[in-house]
Amino acid sequence: MLKRIAVLTSGGDAPGMNAAIRAVVRTGTVRGAEVFGVRQGYSGLLLGDFLPLTPRDVGGIIERGGTMLGSARCLEFKTDAGRRKALTGLASAGIEGLIVIGGNGSQTGTHSLCELGFPANGVASTIDNDLLGTDITIGVDTALNVILEAMDRLRTSAQSHRRCSIVEVMGRDCGFLALTAGIAGGAEVIVTPEFDLTPEQVRERIAQSYARGKQHGVIVVAEGAKNNAQRLYEALSAPHASLPLEPRLTILGHVQRGGDPTAADRLLATRLAADATDLLLSGTHGYLVGLKNGQLARTPIAEVAGRTKPLPDELIRLAEVMQT
Ligand code: F6P
Repeated sequence: MLKRIAVLTSGGDAPGMNAAIRAVVRTGTVRGAEVFGVRQGYSGLLLGDFLPLTPRDVGGIIERGGTMLGSARCLEFKTDAGRRKALTGLASAGIEGLIVIGGNGSQTGTHSLCELGFPANGVASTIDNDLLGTDITIGVDTALNVILEAMDRLRTSAQSHRRCSIVEVMGRDCGFLALTAGIAGGAEVIVTPEFDLTPEQVRERIAQSYARGKQHGVIVVAEGAKNNAQRLYEALSAPHASLPLEPRLTILGHVQRGGDPTAADRLLATRLAADATDLLLSGTHGYLVGLKNGQLARTPIAEVAGRTKPLPDELIRLAEVMQT
């Protein structure tokens, strides 16, 4: 069994990362290993910035958003020289295995460490929910709840003024947050990178909904859509657009990644991170741990790295009906 392991959080922070760190530390310690935290993601690996962590050090963090270890996107780690430097740092600290809590880019890093022969497992964590090997990632539920609260508030204001609220949500190149927030928040129009709409198509949908008697509108737009929220707003507020409802623009930004994790994210993070740690300690590595059909799912990291998950067909069909 491995005796000395480390954990890092990498890429965009996600609510629930602290719960995952806590689960790694407690699982590792209970199984008899020493656990170290790495500060600021892969950057900390390059600097050998390790912090010994005991179960007491991770008390009182399960309810907090962000990550107590800090996170970063590290360009140097993408180079061969950077990765070798990281391996040297790990070896000199006597660390035998690593848990990487993060999304797509971060798990590509896990894969490259594994390819270099270093034992590592990944924990699926990103608000974007674009990772293969899992139905849901840590942070999505909290981010969705933040978006829904904003949409509900924007809707009441839009109703009062007979306006149309254009809301931009995160997700990089993936429309999952926009699609699910659109369904759960009752959006009149949903625009995603996968199903881009032109300003004219959006105008048409709002005009139709107006003709059906709706005197307000909420348009949820994924940041990665070709016609992003800013472009749509500019096109739809031009006088010749003759939109029946006056548009207003809200870009939610990093508020979606902040705040305390929901119960679902705390539980998900704890389950995934504990399993990834158990696997690593027992000598099984090179896996991303996620959740499929409600059950823990271990997918070879080589199958996940550099690829993205498509939107679920069932949700696409549902959204089409619900936007009417
Ligand atoms: O990957 C998570 C994410 O929040 C994306 O949705 C977004 O495109 C990106 O990170 C923003 O990155 P940053 O925090 O560096 O601005």
